[in-house]
Amino acid sequence: MRLLVTGGTGFIGSNFVHYILKKYPAYRIVNLDKLTYAGNLENLADIKGDSRHEFIHGDICDQDCVRTIISGGVDAVVNFAAESHVDRSILDSREFVRTNIEGTRNLLDISRENKIGRYIQISTDEVYGSLGDAGAFTENTPIAPNSPYSASKASADLLVGSYCRTHGFPAIITRCSNNYGPYQFPEKLIPLLITNAMADIPLPIYGDGLNIRDWIHVQDHCAAIDAVLHHGRTGEVYNAGGHEELPNIEVACRILAALGKDESLLTYVQDRPGHDRRYAIDSTKLENEIGWKPVINFADGLSETIAWYSGNASWVKHVRSGAYLKYYEEMYGNRAWERRRPRLRKATKA
Ligand code: NAD
Ligand code: TYD
Repeated sequence: MRLLVTGGTGFIGSNFVHYILKKYPAYRIVNLDKLTYAGNLENLADIKGDSRHEFIHGDICDQDCVRTIISGGVDAVVNFAAESHVDRSILDSREFVRTNIEGTRNLLDISRENKIGRYIQISTDEVYGSLGDAGAFTENTPIAPNSPYSASKASADLLVGSYCRTHGFPAIITRCSNNYGPYQFPEKLIPLLITNAMADIPLPIYGDGLNIRDWIHVQDHCAAIDAVLHHGRTGEVYNAGGHEELPNIEVACRILAALGKDESLLTYVQDRPGHDRRYAIDSTKLENEIGWKPVINFADGLSETIAWYSGNASWVKHVRSGAYLKYYEEMYGNRAWERRRPRLRKATKA
């Protein structure tokens, strides 16, 4: 099988490239990535020279580039390429609309033109909006995005669905919960907290710290995409979640404890506007239909992730220099900071 993986130098995409090459020695991957601030060829340094992987520096919105790749022979497309950070979408949503919606449309049209046999759209549970204390998102939960990021992902999902129904296009959408693991850019909660704690920098906690996310290790997400790629039904949506709901403050406390750092580093900051309170995923459909389930529990996955960041100091140093420092100042420099003792609460179970 020859796969076009887009966004394959980012966090999940690079983990997926590693996963596929290890599991399927005969597969070939073309990796199309624009190398935005989130794309990093260092994430693939260990497969440099592997002839099964071809990297192409380009944009999923570029018609000629995408057409040349797909018409050159591709069996399936897995679209990870996206602007992926909610806070950046609040500052400026233009690239989110361009890449996440227009880029998806371009991939869909050229894939259709070339009669691609399978197209996987990597979406997110954030398209469902925010949950109250009970329940979990199923594939039938109405789309109700709250951030410009999730609105752009939801728009892309609607386009993908429309191509399935109107054109009989062979696409599948996956919607996964919050990922963590190696190679995640330290703008997202877990790598930001780990790298700050390692450097004895305050850990910024938005609002009251009680917003809940359902954490899944990136390896489990890659296994879910693999399952859907090979066994999913065309035109369907599949949710994937980790069954690991935790309030942010608890995640922060666990990271501090694991690194032997003091809780005085916890610093409450001004909340994110439109901050979704709780996400929880019901992945019964994927579990029952295809037999996938997450196998890495949060305690083990977090320890392994902390060990990875601790053991990859030069990777951390590179990604936290230059443009990252400017971003950090812009994002956190003007937020009101307040140090107080954390209020811990048990995670609400679905
Ligand atoms: P990321 O920000 O780490 O990586 C995104 C990648 O896309 C980068 O390599 C970047 O260079 C590339 N890219 C951006 N714009 C591009 C363009 N126009 N053309 C080509 N490449 C471009 O993101 P991630 O966390 O790895 O997320 C990957 C996908 O998974 C996204 O679609 C995201 O919405 C989805 N997702 C993420 C999570 C999560 O917790 N991170 C959870 C569920 C779903
Ligand atoms: P994030 O990793 O940005 O993922 P998402 O918002 O897409 O779920 O944030 C996860 C949670 O952590 C979310 O509730 C916001 C919160 N958060 C903080 O409290 N402090 C931070 O510095 C960041 C980046 C996030």
